[in-house]
Amino acid sequence: MTTSVSIIVPTYREALNIPELARRIDAAMRPTGHPFDLWLMDDPSGDGVERVVRDLGCSWVHLVTRTPPRGLGFAVLEGLRKAPGDILVVMDADLSHPPERIPDLVRAAEQPENHLVIGSRYAAGGTIDGGWSILRHINSRAATGLARLFTWVKDPMSGFLAMRRDILDRAAGELDPIGYKIGLELIVKCRCRKVAEVPIHFSDRQLGKSKMGLKEQIRYVVHVRRLARWKYGELARFAEFGFVGLSGVVVNLLVVTLVSDQLVRMGFAESARLNTAVTLAVFASMTTNFFLNRMLTFADKAPGHLGREYLKFIAVCLLGGVLNWWVTTRLAAGWKEITLGLQAAALCGVAAGMFFNYIGSRLFVFRTKRS
Ligand code: GDD
Ligand code: MN
Repeated sequence: MTTSVSIIVPTYREALNIPELARRIDAAMRPTGHPFDLWLMDDPSGDGVERVVRDLGCSWVHLVTRTPPRGLGFAVLEGLRKAPGDILVVMDADLSHPPERIPDLVRAAEQPENHLVIGSRYAAGGTIDGGWSILRHINSRAATGLARLFTWVKDPMSGFLAMRRDILDRAAGELDPIGYKIGLELIVKCRCRKVAEVPIHFSDRQLGKSKMGLKEQIRYVVHVRRLARWKYGELARFAEFGFVGLSGVVVNLLVVTLVSDQLVRMGFAESARLNTAVTLAVFASMTTNFFLNRMLTFADKAPGHLGREYLKFIAVCLLGGVLNWWVTTRLAAGWKEITLGLQAAALCGVAAGMFFNYIGSRLFVFRTKRS
């Protein structure tokens, strides 16, 4: 039995690109002998795409006019569920992804050992159109770097993919439409250990406009965070707590500098100036840490009474501070002879204090579970 192939293309204002896309898919797929169809998952674009598809007169081209919620991730997921093919291909409408490579992706996806196949810009032999700005390069590399939390594939950001339906079914109800980097979402949630990369030439879009801006980049960071929570659970939460702590260090340094400068100008005496500046800095950083942890690290907990949570958090942090001080002074006394003994002791103190703060925040401050 020959395997059928469904090609899923999310579209928003891509009417201009559809005729050439369909023509090139047809030319590429027909010689393979695979039955194939195309699913245009359109978020109402008002650009006459219905007319364009009708004029094509191809029974294998299906236009799905979506209802809200709109968005790339929603569109692709709906397509993956709707399309009937044994092999599912996802690609962009703007011809950045060459339809001529679909047969290669399909062939690789048919291999039982491959869980997912990616049309890859960065695999050996892959290329991109010239004229990328430095900023676009940096962006693309930074995004790829973040993806290293989950995978070592060379182009995890690619939106050109192929997989067998049985692999997709592994993630059943777990795929998250907010997960708008669909390749990464599939790698993590379908537990794809073996990912094959087929090199492609990635062309710049010729017609229409890109939808990727700052908003999409923020969405990506949110997506990575969700995936980290899904894959690493408590460890990811602890890492977030650590990042919030780092931001607190920055706040602390800023406040201590600004306040101390101000007090010098106001003619404060040395010790009063230091005491005031340090105290304010410590409370400022505990306060920003509190709000960030409440909004991010423990966002999945139902918020309790704000004031009470704040006081509990401060209490936990002060105890953590005492623990930090105690561990550091104890160890430093014993490590007097060792080079950098004091610094090593201080690091241990920070670790002990941070661990205490985490456990305290988790079990005592932000403990109510959202139902
Ligand atoms: N239905 C729907 N709804 N489709 C959308 C939406 C939306 O809100 N936003 C974008 N699309 C479609 C576009 O019509 C296009 O077919 C595809 O998604 C990619 O959008 P582009 O605007 O062309 O984005 P890009 O070129 O910056 O991003 C592409 O390259 C990235 C790698 O550089 C995409 O393939 C990404 O998935 C890929 O990671
Ligand atoms: Mn594009």
